[in-house]
Amino acid sequence: MENRTSGLQAAPVDTTSTTITIKGILSLLLQNVDENDGRRLISLGMGDPTAFSCFHTTHVSQEAVVDALQSDKFNGYAPTVGLPQTRRAIAEYLSRDLPYKLTSDDVFVTSGCTQAIDVALAMLARPGANILLPKPCFPIYELCSAFRHLEIRHFDLLQENAWEVDLDAVEALADHNTVAMVIINPGNPCGNVYSYQHLEKIAETAKKLRIPVIADEVYGHLAFGDKPFVPMGVFGSTVPVLTLGSLSKRWIVPGWRLGWFVTTDPCGMFRIPKVIERIKKYFDILGGPATFIQAAVPRILQQTEEAFFKKTLYLLKQSSDICCDRINEIPCLTCPSKPEGSMAVMVKLDLSLLEDINDDIEFCFKLVKEESVIFLPGTAVGLTSWIRVTFAADPSSIEEALRRTKSFYQRHARKL
Ligand SMILES: Cc1ncc(COP(=O)(O)O)c(C=O)c1O
Repeated sequence: MENRTSGLQAAPVDTTSTTITIKGILSLLLQNVDENDGRRLISLGMGDPTAFSCFHTTHVSQEAVVDALQSDKFNGYAPTVGLPQTRRAIAEYLSRDLPYKLTSDDVFVTSGCTQAIDVALAMLARPGANILLPKPCFPIYELCSAFRHLEIRHFDLLQENAWEVDLDAVEALADHNTVAMVIINPGNPCGNVYSYQHLEKIAETAKKLRIPVIADEVYGHLAFGDKPFVPMGVFGSTVPVLTLGSLSKRWIVPGWRLGWFVTTDPCGMFRIPKVIERIKKYFDILGGPATFIQAAVPRILQQTEEAFFKKTLYLLKQSSDICCDRINEIPCLTCPSKPEGSMAVMVKLDLSLLEDINDDIEFCFKLVKEESVIFLPGTAVGLTSWIRVTFAADPSSIEEALRRTKSFYQRHARKL
């Protein structure tokens, strides 16, 4: 009989170092919940704030979607690169924070930021190419690179330096086959926000290496510390930037799957007809977000009240403070850098204080079994002996999760 899988086998994907995905490991953790534990499961593993009632999108967004749906005008296919009014609205929205204006042609509408990542990597991949990724990183980049046969080279984010990019490492890693470097700002998994000065240095380094910067700004504007959010596109005249984003986090609607891939590139390095043609062709094989969601975007971007954004930032700041304070009360855990943005923080695990736990994965599996609390093992984002804690949750859930973690620690603490 004909082997129908031979086509798949002919294109092996090296996912050996990248088999761990956040969703994959969280579903394994879920299988370890003790069904006899009468307490509710608290998951601080995933960055989906809609799981907690204090995080809620705006009426403006909901009305915009309902009106677009009920208008009966948006039941058909949209152009594959996105509705013109949607592209224009995203260009205007991003231009508010830039020293130049983007046009609709710079914007391609994607199914969430996840698809924008795929587009960026698919467009840059070629035989022998490598890409510079941060460590720790959002693991979709590694998985996507593996599928595109892009060699991954990691540069460290320096924990002692508020998770800034190790720019010396970037210079040492790059060669003539390097196609881009990736930054995530505000950062997932670290919760850091880069200063204007640091972003400027990143731009200068990338310029020197003649590589574009892929700037994942899915958490754009979710900065609640001392540093304001500065988009990488501000340095678009120094170095071409591919800006990736979505409505998912700032508007608290990750399920709406509305994102963007934007060439933030006033010097027009990506505006070569052949490149644009290739991007457009690639979009012909992607199914973008639902047309009525796209149609709602102009109103969502133009009419969301400032008060909604302020409230989200207030909630994130409050919950991140509670999270770090409670974590620091548990001897085997430390929160070395207080988060200043995004929805997650990296927490260091001191295994020497624990008796029967050998690594972050075992810590998380035992914790969910004994306490019905889920954190993401750091291994999933590239750092062993760390865990990632999502603080986009209501304060009472964070307090309860960390109370249970403290008693877990007390049971497993190494006896002196
Ligand atoms: C850094 C980063 N990039 C991209 C994504 C994917 O975003 P979306 O849900 O819009 O696809 C996420 C989601 O958590 C993320 O944390």
